[in-house]
Amino acid sequence: MGAIFIAMEGLDGSGGTTQTARLADWLRSNGHAEVVTTAEPSTGPAGRFIRDVLNPQHEASVIGDAVLPFLFAADRRDHLDREVIPALQRGAAVITDRYYHSSLAYQSLAVGLPTVADLNERFRAPDITIFLDLEPEVSLARIEARGGTLERFEAIDRLRSIAEAYDAVLVHCRARGEHIVRISADGSIDDVHKRVVEAVQSTIEALS
Ligand code: TYD
Repeated sequence: MGAIFIAMEGLDGSGGTTQTARLADWLRSNGHAEVVTTAEPSTGPAGRFIRDVLNPQHEASVIGDAVLPFLFAADRRDHLDREVIPALQRGAAVITDRYYHSSLAYQSLAVGLPTVADLNERFRAPDITIFLDLEPEVSLARIEARGGTLERFEAIDRLRSIAEAYDAVLVHCRARGEHIVRISADGSIDDVHKRVVEAVQSTIEALS
């Protein structure tokens, strides 16, 4: 089976990391010789620096929200050039846990959608973007249940604003011709996985 580029998106707590892993297993058992799972912020040097900026305990957190769109875009260029594009050229299926839609949603709150859209317009569009749709209240409950310290973006008001921003992002990206499937992330991991597989399967059929 040929190369396919899949992006997983959604609020914090919407299950992107789990669904990325489940989808990778499914692709491996359904004929994809090479499946690469990756994420943004990436594990490269720019991505590691972003993690420091997002950590309120770290001295790098003095960097303001207006700088973040540039940092994420720099990390994205590096991630694409060193990991994603070479893998696609080898014919792999690549799933990224977050991509530029996250920037368009999260960073638009600080600098507005047009500015973030300009910074990201040249990056390769995914063949399919899965948006895991979850109410901000449910998302916060899941974040609290996993007991993690809340990151810069995880308070309820922020989550509500990000959910609204994502709505605008989906409209913006679909208007550019992107294939985005909105999937309810409410339900068991298996339920959501089945919905994800259905969407990916029809994209694979359309590509072949
Ligand atoms: P993520 O790794 O998904 O969170 P976690 O550490 O809980 O798995 O992403 C870290 C945070 O970065 C998350 O709150 C979303 C945010 N983010 C942006 O603001 N812009 C971006 O472009 C990306 C990729 C992530």
